[in-house]
Amino acid sequence: MSQNKYGLDIGSSNFKMCFRDQVLNEKNMIAVTRKEVVGIGDDAYDMYEKVPENIDVSFPVKGGVIADIYNMQILLSKFWQKINGTKRSMGVSDFFIAVPRNVTDVEKRAFYELVVRSGIKVRNILEVDKPVADAVGAGIDVQNAKGIMIVDIGAETCEMSVLSLGGIVESKSVKIGGNRLDEDIIYAVRNEYNLVIGNKTAERLKIGLACAGSNFNSISMTGFGRNVLTGLPTSCQISDEVINSSIKEPLSTIVEEVRIFLENTPPEFAVDIIKNGIFMTGGTSGIRNIDELFRKNLNVSIKVVNTPQESIIRGLMRIMADSRMSSLAYVPDDRLFE
Ligand SMILES: Nc1ncnc2c1ncn2[C@@H]1O[C@H](COP(=O)(O)OP(=O)(O)OP(=O)(O)O)[C@@H](O)[C@H]1O
Ligand SMILES: [Mg+2]
Repeated sequence: MSQNKYGLDIGSSNFKMCFRDQVLNEKNMIAVTRKEVVGIGDDAYDMYEKVPENIDVSFPVKGGVIADIYNMQILLSKFWQKINGTKRSMGVSDFFIAVPRNVTDVEKRAFYELVVRSGIKVRNILEVDKPVADAVGAGIDVQNAKGIMIVDIGAETCEMSVLSLGGIVESKSVKIGGNRLDEDIIYAVRNEYNLVIGNKTAERLKIGLACAGSNFNSISMTGFGRNVLTGLPTSCQISDEVINSSIKEPLSTIVEEVRIFLENTPPEFAVDIIKNGIFMTGGTSGIRNIDELFRKNLNVSIKVVNTPQESIIRGLMRIMADSRMSSLAYVPDDRLFE
């Protein structure tokens, strides 16, 4: 193993990378013209929905898998340079990649190939199953704990898993997450206020106002957009009530998926899951009172982990640093080089 170990959690909305004690967490976005890259990460997100036609701003990961490997390679190498700062690492590096479970072999292999082709000098590439890294990041003693259920709600996927003694017993992934909530917010704001807003505004309103619990706060935020009737740019006060009722339906779809998964969990693990509660991670678990919604509907205690968006990368950081957890990382079967 080299001294330079990097962890990667490449999401549909956010790119997370760790190196030593640093975490880089930026929008997984790239802005390009036909000739050059004009922005990456959070800078590209700033440009999103504001750029002229000759600039293309896009997310290279869709539904939790790499859809545009070329741009993803550029992003990886630029983020790698960014996390290394001026003291650019000259030696070889090892990579620990968090990989999703419920994808095809080709989709899974793309994460590995991405690192191989990034132009970075790499010695070892190891993979860690996302639910395992997630659970370690949630502070669970994964190798000894029995019957742990973890639900990661990201931007485009909701991955639910049951772990026991370091292995995955069951897991399932559905293609729903925070982006669906943003779409429903766009629709509701258009209906209620005759205001056309973009995805960025929808996400901002969601993070500022959304609450999955029963008590609303009667708060509001300014939403900027275009009036449907006049076609002119305008702004208005958007109430949390409108936001909260718009996200009810996608949230209950997620709850329902988790309920089905829980019902199909082998009974020998049910006792432990009830005892331990369900752990919730992923950015969308940051919605206020989401624990209340799940607890009411599933009758199980719910623990939303701290900074849920960074649970996987935190888990990778611990696995990389602690040799007792080295068995949680594995060399992919179809490796391309030694
Ligand atoms: N405080 C918050 N309240 C509500 N939603 C939030 C909050 N913080 C982040 N989000 C949402 O979480 C999502 C991003 O979470 P995360 O980084 O876990 O997803 P990802 O890993 O990029 O996606 P995926 O795992 O689905 O590929 C976005 O939809 C974002 O709007
Ligand atoms: Mg994710």
